[in-house]
Amino acid sequence: VILSVTGRAPINIAVVKYWGKKDERLILPLNGSISGTLDLTHMCATTTVAISESFSEDQFWLNGLECSLSARFSIVLEAIKKRALENETIDREKLSWKIHICSKNNFPTAAGLASSAAGLACLVFCLARLYNIDGDVSGIARLGSGSACRSMYGGFVEWMVGECRDGRDSVAKQIIPANHWPNMAVLILVVNAGRKHTSSTSGMQTSVQTSRLLEHRAKLVVPDHIDLMRGALLQKDFQTFAQVTMKDSNSMHAVCMDTYPPIHYLTHVSHHIINLVHSINNYFRTCKVAYTFDAGPNACLYLLDDDLPTILSLIRYFYPKIQNVEEGGTDDDACRDG
Ligand code: DP6
Repeated sequence: VILSVTGRAPINIAVVKYWGKKDERLILPLNGSISGTLDLTHMCATTTVAISESFSEDQFWLNGLECSLSARFSIVLEAIKKRALENETIDREKLSWKIHICSKNNFPTAAGLASSAAGLACLVFCLARLYNIDGDVSGIARLGSGSACRSMYGGFVEWMVGECRDGRDSVAKQIIPANHWPNMAVLILVVNAGRKHTSSTSGMQTSVQTSRLLEHRAKLVVPDHIDLMRGALLQKDFQTFAQVTMKDSNSMHAVCMDTYPPIHYLTHVSHHIINLVHSINNYFRTCKVAYTFDAGPNACLYLLDDDLPTILSLIRYFYPKIQNVEEGGTDDDACRDG
């Protein structure tokens, strides 16, 4: 007998970022965070999880290649099995069957594009289905990769910082469903699709150890941003949404610079994109578009549907010039004037 479940989960893009843990094992964050979950068309992980009495070992294939299973996988699996045992959702015998996992991303893996979030969210969703577990499993996804807990829900989602030491209340909650703000769009500018040099896990570890600015960010800056962002989302206030998104991204990357030794995720091209976005917003005398960057150089732009044609044509016009700057390294002012 083989029991299998296939699921699909999209990436999420944080507008108030998670950067730093207070508990490495339970993945408890120093601060809350908020992200938008993309729809199920473009940037998704698709995973099939199968269990069988005939499998001799747990095995995992990512994008067609067999990979070793990480320690985080064992933690997630243990948490799922514990929940299944407690709620008696599946017979004990099946819980001892070995697992095969086959996962595929339709976008660059580990390029700072939240691939681990989609992958882990998808894995936890499939495991929960396989073992008939109902209710919220975002706390289990969190154990696999912090940001994965936010991909368990659609729309805009908050990962609650939580107060309990065991992490019980550090779970994801939806702030608004996708249809509350249906004309919100995301553009991803892939600056570099290679693997990132410093993973977010190790980058944030070094920040926790060395950056005083991170203490300030977690205690004062982020709580403010979370309040403003919640309000902006509920009221569909794009101006506040855009400003907080850009400031929070800048704040996170300032912490990366304050980390010792410093972590540079943004490249020349990323900085030119930042300048281009501000030039566009200045030109229109209102925020039309907001950038945000995770642990890599690729830009995620949030904007409204109506503005897509204009912004896209401006980017199509300027982006090749920006990329030439990176390659040629000569024309420093290529996109400064908008
Ligand atoms: C910059 O969730 O990948 O994307 O919990 O160690 O697996 P781990 O880290 P991860 O970190 C994501 C950091 C970020 C910001 C964010 O998504 O909020």
